[in-house]
Amino acid sequence: MGRIIREMVKEMPDTEIAAGVDSVTDETADFPQFTDIADCDVPADVAVDFSNHTAIPPLIDFCLAKKLPVIVGTTAMTPECLAQIEEASKEIPIFRSANMSLGINLLAKAIKAITPALEDSFNVEIVEKHHNQKKDSPSGTAILLADAVNDSCETKKDYMFGRHGVTDECKITDLGIHAIRGGTIPGEHIVIYAGTDEIIELRHTALSRKIFASGALKAAAFMAGREPGMYDMNDMLK
Ligand SMILES: NC(=O)c1ccc[n+]([C@@H]2O[C@H](COP(=O)([O-])OP(=O)(O)OC[C@H]3O[C@@H](n4cnc5c(N)ncnc54)[C@H](O)[C@@H]3O)[C@@H](O)[C@H]2O)c1
Repeated sequence: MGRIIREMVKEMPDTEIAAGVDSVTDETADFPQFTDIADCDVPADVAVDFSNHTAIPPLIDFCLAKKLPVIVGTTAMTPECLAQIEEASKEIPIFRSANMSLGINLLAKAIKAITPALEDSFNVEIVEKHHNQKKDSPSGTAILLADAVNDSCETKKDYMFGRHGVTDECKITDLGIHAIRGGTIPGEHIVIYAGTDEIIELRHTALSRKIFASGALKAAAFMAGREPGMYDMNDMLK
């Protein structure tokens, strides 16, 4: 994601990368690089993160010290990281979304609109497909979509990650989440509402990872000058 953001920023005359932070340096980068964010002494307007949960504690400490707004794209967070982000949002503006694309966030809105009419009579299942290099499963986006289903249900559903070894019938309160990995699939999410004799499928296909970088860069512009607090795509899409 860092490389894609770098390429996109080259096409944006009003935006520049002040510095890059990664445990691995890249000799082709044309900006200052730091392997430890605590060493970064370059002024910036906003921090954009796509990394790993291990990078979150020093990132948040850094942004708190510099009073810097931060866009957090990393998924598969630990509860400790989430708590740290929540606490820090009392002092700095933090934008967090498990999926920065316009399409997925509109899909979540569509889910919230249709689920109440279907929750008692249609089973809901989510299938996600990603490239074979993806480390976390299911995707943070699958959970984001499952949460959108549950947020709009009167009776909360139980997430079932795969069905291996399950011998009971599928209950209306089960919400199955299934991960497929292979090749270079950038990302696909299908939300299936299966009723008696009819099926509704909502599908989002990411054809490139540029959609996430574009969303994160729009969020970076959106966050400039914001008050401290937690923000997400819903705030930007209002
Ligand atoms: N929110 C979204 O829209 C969205 C989109 C794509 C990816 N992601 C998430 O963003 C994260 C990164 O995805 P990616 O595809 O760029 O992964 P990647 O593995 O290609 O890149 C992660 C980078 O982070 C660096 N890194 C890891 N731990 C670090 C640490 N402790 N300190 C400094 N650098 C560290 C690695 O060296 C690597 O260069 C994942 O959690 C992924 O799920 C979110």
